[in-house]
Amino acid sequence: MTPRELMAEAETARKAAYAPYSRFAVGAALLTKSGRVVHGCNVENASFGLSCCAERTAVFKAVSEGETAFTAIAITAGRGHGAEPCGACRQVLHEFAPGMWVYFRDARGGIVKRRLRALLASAFDGRSLGGRR
Ligand code: THU
Repeated sequence: MTPRELMAEAETARKAAYAPYSRFAVGAALLTKSGRVVHGCNVENASFGLSCCAERTAVFKAVSEGETAFTAIAITAGRGHGAEPCGACRQVLHEFAPGMWVYFRDARGGIVKRRLRALLASAFDGRSLGGRR
């Protein structure tokens, strides 16, 4: 699946965004190693801090369905907006696939392609916990 195709899936995922407070709808499409595409959207709450980003929605959906190996994620906030993944989502993605590709829209509608590792250097991970795994 090409970055463009995965981004088209993210655009579809964005349609389900529940963002009545920020009015900033985000969509994510997570590609699993097995070839599945899992959609995610942001889900906000009247208690603002409980809102969940599109990327984490997608990861939690996938993991809850037995998918823990990912090759790429595409993220969009619609044309005219950048959709760089937030730090919390970078950390959550890193838990499962530090080497995965991250595709996100820039404000001009282009697709930026980065390895997750490059977006989250010196990450805290299971190894940081020493013998506790
Ligand atoms: N948001 C995401 O869904 N993903 C990100 O990486 C950054 C922000 C959402 C959270 C909130 O619902 C809205 O965008 C505004 O911050």
